[in-house]
Amino acid sequence: MLAMGSSAWVEIILFSLAALCSCFATEVTYDANALIINGERRLIFSGSIHYPRSTVEMWPDIIQKARDGGLDAIESYVFWDRHEPVRREYDFSGNLDFIKFFKLVQEAGLYAILRIGPYVCAEWNYGGFPLWLHNMPGIELRTDNSVYKNEMQIFTTKIVDMVKEANLFASQGGPIILAQIENEYGNIMWGYGDAGKSYIKWCAQMAVAQNIGVPWIMCQQHDAPQPMINTCNGYYCDNFQPNNPKSPKMFTENWIGWFQKWGERVPHRSAEDSAFSVARFFQNGGVLNNYYMYHGGTNFGRIAGGPYITTSYDYDAPLDEYGNLNQPKWGHLKQLHAAIKLGEKILTNGTRSDKYLGNAVTLTTYTGDGGARFCFLSNTNSNADASVNLKQDGKYFLPAWSVTILDGCTKEVFNTAKVNSQTSVMVKKSDDPSVKLTWAWAPERKKDTLRGKGNVDANQLLEQKELTLDASDYLWYMTSVDINDTSIWSNATLCVDTMGHTLHTYVNRRYAGYKFSQWGSKFTYEKQVSLKQGTNIIALLSATVGLPNYGTGFDKIKTGIAGGPVQLIGKNNVTMDLSTNLWSYKIGLNGERKRLYDLQPQISVSWHANSSYPISKPMTWYKADFEAPYGTNPVVVDLQGLGKGHAWVNGHSIGRYWPSWITASNGCSDTCDYRGKYVTEKCNTNCGNPSQRWYHVPRSFLNKDKNTLVLFEETGGNPQNVSFQTVTTGTVCALVYEGALLELSCQGGQVISQIQFASFGNPKGKCGSFEQGSWEAIDSRSVIEAACIGRSSCEFLVTKEAFSVAGANNGPARLAVQATC
Ligand SMILES: *[C@@H]1O[C@H](CO)[C@@H](O)[C@H](O)[C@H]1NC(C)=O
Ligand SMILES: *[C@@H]1O[C@H](CO)[C@@H](O)[C@H](O)[C@H]1NC(C)=O
Ligand SMILES: *[C@@H]1O[C@H](CO)[C@@H](O)[C@H](O)[C@H]1NC(C)=O
Ligand SMILES: *[C@@H]1O[C@H](CO)[C@@H](O)[C@H](O)[C@H]1NC(C)=O
Ligand SMILES: *[C@@H]1O[C@H](CO)[C@@H](O)[C@H](O)[C@H]1NC(C)=O
Ligand SMILES: *[C@@H]1O[C@H](CO)[C@@H](O)[C@H](O)[C@H]1NC(C)=O
Repeated sequence: MLAMGSSAWVEIILFSLAALCSCFATEVTYDANALIINGERRLIFSGSIHYPRSTVEMWPDIIQKARDGGLDAIESYVFWDRHEPVRREYDFSGNLDFIKFFKLVQEAGLYAILRIGPYVCAEWNYGGFPLWLHNMPGIELRTDNSVYKNEMQIFTTKIVDMVKEANLFASQGGPIILAQIENEYGNIMWGYGDAGKSYIKWCAQMAVAQNIGVPWIMCQQHDAPQPMINTCNGYYCDNFQPNNPKSPKMFTENWIGWFQKWGERVPHRSAEDSAFSVARFFQNGGVLNNYYMYHGGTNFGRIAGGPYITTSYDYDAPLDEYGNLNQPKWGHLKQLHAAIKLGEKILTNGTRSDKYLGNAVTLTTYTGDGGARFCFLSNTNSNADASVNLKQDGKYFLPAWSVTILDGCTKEVFNTAKVNSQTSVMVKKSDDPSVKLTWAWAPERKKDTLRGKGNVDANQLLEQKELTLDASDYLWYMTSVDINDTSIWSNATLCVDTMGHTLHTYVNRRYAGYKFSQWGSKFTYEKQVSLKQGTNIIALLSATVGLPNYGTGFDKIKTGIAGGPVQLIGKNNVTMDLSTNLWSYKIGLNGERKRLYDLQPQISVSWHANSSYPISKPMTWYKADFEAPYGTNPVVVDLQGLGKGHAWVNGHSIGRYWPSWITASNGCSDTCDYRGKYVTEKCNTNCGNPSQRWYHVPRSFLNKDKNTLVLFEETGGNPQNVSFQTVTTGTVCALVYEGALLELSCQGGQVISQIQFASFGNPKGKCGSFEQGSWEAIDSRSVIEAACIGRSSCEFLVTKEAFSVAGANNGPARLAVQATC
């Protein structure tokens, strides 16, 4: 070893780090057929993962599973409202540390796509705008307005500077290969007239001036000013063409599923149709496909957009809300990625020719250097299968609404409708189902508000978020009415016109009633109330459930009892309009101010313990201690029996809950036909059940010993059956074509304990109800048992040779397996 002073070592290390940075700088350019990364012509598979919708502790596992699923890149928005909740006061702590997130992406060997927006839509509260923007004098959001543009530029510059500081752009050796400004503005630009057009030009100039060294994109912007690359969002983008023929064709949001609203059934998009959309896109010259979402995650706190986006943002993504593999979707897409990558060189540098073969069947041939070929064979007919004879290139069975990928144009390596990947049936388990939680409770204190005492007064009915700045879902509107003639008013109707979303009413300190908007829009509340001689106090509690995030002027959509009217209608229709009364206001709940959800509230709170707790009582806080479920599987809390409210574990918000809202009993089916264009209502599940019953409790929120759950129950419920459960793989199934690979795996360290069904032959049915067909190999079960029992995963090439098959030729075979983890 050389003798050298320590400072000399430091210098050498610093010097080599600096050298590394410049020699690893990645050049990102493009043409119509490829992203060109350091001179290499690439096709990119990417997936959206929004960092605040999971926890820092979950990030490495989710990113690794994305990589294992065959992704090249991870995409995320940046969430302005969370990063700058108060003007010029920034927060990048905990799961808002997007720099750390992108560093983990880089460490996993993946590229990244940074969608700054800063308008993000994303089913995110107020589309990601901080509420203080709304109240700035003279501001108009998302248009050619100097107050807004100034704020947008300051935030965008701040984010870009942080990314540069951390050397995260590819031009600096980092993972970020593309960046986005604005978001789907083209969809709504018409509503802003000429100001919209000049605004989008300004966005482009402002972005270019940031000098980030990688290309900028604008999604859904058909007139994107150059050099912005316009990109496509939707369920299918095969027919999309960028406005500049030299731009690569990119699918920034391939909606792999859909979001859910309170009261709605759970949407699904099949693995077959998802793969079909991707394959069609690459068949037609696609260069980059980004799944929206790859991991949807959870709307913790009050980040859910609106109105009425649920706390779960599962999205039916390839990774479920908790980070488990959503099978068969994850595995089927993984195989698709591998199949398309076989043709990467030819697809990115070849010439394409389409040949229409009739009956909606098209053969697309890419021919590259030296005549190398790669083909896509598609059948876009939504009900007729096709048998295609390509002469010397072979014969192919092509199911309806599917694409076959032909390596060398002669070998079928993938068909979008032939799913060989396993199906995992996830189950929720309690360590001990007999354990009942012990509840303490406290009423929401309303002494002040029921007496009409607030802290802001006005002679009008104010718009809710203008006053609350969305610091809380809740706003009290209170007024008093003097009654002289009880013959008219003793039996009156209270009429409230509100812009939503829910309303509770109290008259003379008595609870009068509750109503919520079915669709999250305005509604009229009417209730018979009894007024007395003298002064009567009317107290109205309005609550929002996620602020709108999409549409022209979404930011101006009113909430609360804005303008009313609020009226009393007495005998003979005598009407008293209270809209211009003196109204007193109070923002938020007293329990929120006292922080009842914190483990150590700053103000002492008296919980009632050791007595029976109230049930079906609106405005009640409940609290219970619990033990963390054993193991490492994801944890959920089952809130069936509760009404509507907000839940916290150890002081961390796990989001709003609303299990009392039961979904429609019709419109679901066990069998989802993947064929034909996907529409949002197509493959729903969860009919006639709470729209969301289970709520994710990230493991990192839990302590080993004591944990505390706090619920604020707004409409009245019963916590009797609340329990903590873990989500694990129950049954796994696979139906594998001959020649393909059987891959079965459990998750979370479990092993395959039993083969419930195995049949190599022509089995019928589906997972949960497989049946033997007209023939099968007699050793089907024992062969699979030998390969899989006791293992956390097993792989097995499905061929006739692997089984004892009697008779010479029984036709093409499939292997059906059902196992328990
Ligand atoms: C792309 O195609 C051109 C023309 O056939 C050929 O000269 C070039 O080597 C190819 N480049 C790559 C990276 O394959
Ligand atoms: C009730 O009577 C008082 C005194 O007679 C009068 O000042 C007041 O305006 C009346 N109020 C209403 C609502 O008629
Ligand atoms: C109050 O009025 C409503 C209709 O206006 C009527 O149905 C109800 O019976 C009345 N109640 C009383 C106590 O008079
Ligand atoms: C009160 O108004 C309602 C609706 O406008 C009307 O149907 C009803 O006949 C009216 N009643 C009286 C007593 O005027
Ligand atoms: C609750 O009540 C039971 C029965 O009265 C008593 O045995 C127990 O000690 C009480 N627990 C607490 C925490 O006060
Ligand atoms: C709790 O579960 C029991 C047993 O299933 C059921 O009878 C009861 O109605 C449930 N309670 C609530 C509040 O859902």
